[in-house]
Amino acid sequence: MGELARHLGLRVPELVLVDFDPSVAAGEPHQEVQDLLRASTGLNLGMDYLPGAADFAPGAPDPDPVESARILWLDAFTANVDRTVHSSNLMTWPTSGHHEPRLWLIDHGASLVFHHRWESAADAVGKAYDFRFHALGSPDLDLAAADAELAPRVTPRLLRRVVGAVPDTWLADEPGFGTPDEVREAYVNHLAARAQVSAQWLPKEMP
Ligand SMILES: Nc1ncnc2c1ncn2[C@@H]1O[C@H](COP(=O)(O)OP(=O)(O)OP(=O)(O)O)[C@@H](O)[C@H]1O
Ligand SMILES: [Mg+2]
Repeated sequence: MGELARHLGLRVPELVLVDFDPSVAAGEPHQEVQDLLRASTGLNLGMDYLPGAADFAPGAPDPDPVESARILWLDAFTANVDRTVHSSNLMTWPTSGHHEPRLWLIDHGASLVFHHRWESAADAVGKAYDFRFHALGSPDLDLAAADAELAPRVTPRLLRRVVGAVPDTWLADEPGFGTPDEVREAYVNHLAARAQVSAQWLPKEMP
């Protein structure tokens, strides 16, 4: 999700693959943290830390409406259920030369929810998105403009590039699939199909 957002021109801190050595946990005094460290043995997805960034909360100076509409479009497209007024998973980071807050997108662990049930994923291709509690929800956002701009950019070629960056080990042993490439193809097919039917899942105007 993060790399897809980046390819669509949104700001996402750099993502890296980190091979985590569990011996680090031995020096950790807190049991809870130690458990987390041990559970992270092996390959992890790491995100660059934005020093001095602040959590975005609604009511802060309004962000750029064109960018907000793009973020809403992407969240609806990927069925991201975790960018709400309660938990925005957006950060503002001072950027010279800009008056409005520059938004950075983090924590996409609750997007692409269709991948938790592949057997019903096909039924969710045109599934509408609930915008009511979205952190950037505002009646005057131009969703149609964001759709016209972004939907054509989500091509099978782009999607293949993005899912190609997911390590095999995270795609192996997926029930119902033989190989990691079969899972990648399922993501590409699902998302390419959803991009084609945006009229089904995107409201014409902000609710
Ligand atoms: N790349 C980053 N740079 C700076 N701060 C970050 C970064 N990523 C996360 N944070 C800070 O850590 C908080 C929690 O991060 P994240 O949303 O990834 O985890 P989470 O499991 O959802 O935590 P929570 O349940 O508290 O929301 C963010 O709200 C933000 O304040
Ligand atoms: Mg979070």
